Amino acid sequence: MLTKTPFPAKAPTMTETRFAPGPQSLRSLRDTLGCFGTGVTVVTTMCDLGPLAMTANSFAAVSLDPALVLWSPAKGSTRHAAFTGADHFIIHVMADDQLALAQHFAGDGLDFDGVDWAPSDDGQPLLAGCLARFECARHAVHDGGDHSIILGQVLRAAHRPGTGLIFKRGEYGGFSGFV
Ligand SMILES: Cc1cc2nc3c(=O)[nH]c(=O)nc-3n(C[C@H](O)[C@H](O)[C@H](O)COP(=O)(O)O)c2cc1C
Repeated sequence: MLTKTPFPAKAPTMTETRFAPGPQSLRSLRDTLGCFGTGVTVVTTMCDLGPLAMTANSFAAVSLDPALVLWSPAKGSTRHAAFTGADHFIIHVMADDQLALAQHFAGDGLDFDGVDWAPSDDGQPLLAGCLARFECARHAVHDGGDHSIILGQVLRAAHRPGTGLIFKRGEYGGFSGFV
């Protein structure tokens, strides 16, 4: 049963930045969103020009049964059309030693020179060395303001022991220990 526990009202002890989101406060909104630490993924798909990748931290779990996940490419990205139009894609969760790869694919999504990858069963670019991966078929694409929300049905998944790459407040880091 849902019960309500009294919660003492507390004044903020430190200086807060308060704002209402709008065109003038995009930086503040970014900074606020950045307080929520995430993992880092690289999403790949095969496009007309060959393998394509994009670093993304908008990944989220959605549903266990059916197995659904989501991520959100910006409409302003040159890679948006390729990803929203892709029938299949792979979401790779970066391990803590894959910072360079994440930074690389935040830059050039078509440059696979020197990248360790092989085609998956669906012919999608499967990156070596990640902590986990979700091989997806496109389930739906929804409007999400200046981003699109891509829902993927997970066809195959894999994970291994190790530590993951974390992104928070614009900086990369990791957990110590076995997480
Ligand atoms: C840690 C990190 C997370 C990111 N997450 C996203 C994301 O979820 N969605 C997105 O559209 N771009 C994200 N980006 C930016 C893209 O990786 C890439 O830089 C952007 O698509 C570049 O735009 P272009 O394709 O026009 O060159 C992220 C970048 C970094 C470094």
